[in-house]
Amino acid sequence: MEKRETVEVVRTELILRSDTNHYGTIFGGKTLAMMDMTGALAAMRFSNENVVTASFESIDFKKPIREGDIVEVVARVIYTSKSSLVVKTDVYKYQNQQFHSEKEFTCGGFATFVAVDMDGKTHPIPQLKVETDDEKKLWKVGEKIKNNAMERAKS
Ligand SMILES: CC(C)(COP(=O)(O)OP(=O)(O)OC[C@H]1O[C@@H](n2cnc3c(N)ncnc32)[C@H](O)[C@@H]1OP(=O)(O)O)[C@@H](O)C(=O)NCCC(=O)NCCS
Repeated sequence: MEKRETVEVVRTELILRSDTNHYGTIFGGKTLAMMDMTGALAAMRFSNENVVTASFESIDFKKPIREGDIVEVVARVIYTSKSSLVVKTDVYKYQNQQFHSEKEFTCGGFATFVAVDMDGKTHPIPQLKVETDDEKKLWKVGEKIKNNAMERAKS
């Protein structure tokens, strides 16, 4: 089976008033949608297949994102199995439209995507090349995410 280097997809967006609640902080659903889309693009770029989101691990929102902040969503493929991929997605912010302000971590999570054909049937994917210590560490995290999902599926 062909082994491929990981891919990382980065999405940058300015947060507008329509993205925020009456406190001026971002809707959780908006953050999740950005994470889902960026993660799916990383999975598609890696596998060269269509994918669907199969599951998300729990996500803790650590810092608020406000209207006018610039958000950077970074998605990286960390684990592959026969037809599924685990993607790590981290969300950062630059405050007040200032790209040169300190970049702060706001939240992160893991999602599993499954490659499917046009009939929605699962499809085999290339496997991830894992060489460096960082890649090996992330692979173990991805494996745990995959096992957790399989445990949940049984219950
Ligand atoms: C995800 C989906 C394609 C799996 O289809 P399925 O026929 O149940 O597939 P299988 O049980 O044969 O499993 C196929 C792969 O998906 C993985 N998988 C299935 N359900 C999963 C879940 N809930 N979480 C993580 N991985 C899952 C399996 O582990 C397996 O991985 P592998 O091939 O790498 O070993 C199907 O459940 C589906 O289409 N779900 C809806 C997806 C969707 O609409 N997403 C958007 C939500 S808004």
